[in-house]
Amino acid sequence: MQFDHVTDESIGVLIRSFYAKVRRDAQLGPIFEGAIGNNWDNHISKMCDFWGAAMRISRHYSGDMLTAHRRVKGLQPALFGRWLELFEQTVAELFAAEAGAALCDRARKTAHNLQLALFYRRDSRPAVAVSSGSGRPADAADAPAAPTRPEARA
Ligand code: HEM
Repeated sequence: MQFDHVTDESIGVLIRSFYAKVRRDAQLGPIFEGAIGNNWDNHISKMCDFWGAAMRISRHYSGDMLTAHRRVKGLQPALFGRWLELFEQTVAELFAAEAGAALCDRARKTAHNLQLALFYRRDSRPAVAVSSGSGRPADAADAPAAPTRPEARA
């Protein structure tokens, strides 16, 4: 079955299906199991809230994804490609083209900005918990650019 629209219901199916794949994955599975342990119901529910807010259909998410990922042991840039591959595969199974493209676009942008903030940006700051204006959760994309140190400008 394919969903034509991103709704609370279709996000719930996507998130459950995606994390079922993640848990079986040789690269990602152990990292998630190590961080989440017996707390999967809580993680799934948080991720449904995140995606609802990211796609501007709800405003339940409140969290700080940058700080959460800084705590994840073994997280490396190379793993983001696999995360996106599984996410896009799941979206393709479940969504019609237009809705699927919107989800994948948001996932790619968020993954890119999260990586920049975690691994490549000097002095990166944690993202603000939730942006009040846009209805979309603040992710690393929304963190203010780190100020350039005077000595770095020379
Ligand atoms: C290799 C890539 C990734 C890995 C291994 C990973 C792993 C994790 C883990 C283990 C947690 C739970 C942390 C905890 O509760 O202590 C988490 C939380 C989360 N992840 Fe990821 N993640 C990845 C990429 C992404 C991407 C690309 C997104 C968004 C598109 C994302 C969104 C989130 C959100 C919203 C949370 C909840 C943060 C909070 O506590 O509010 N993750 N991730």
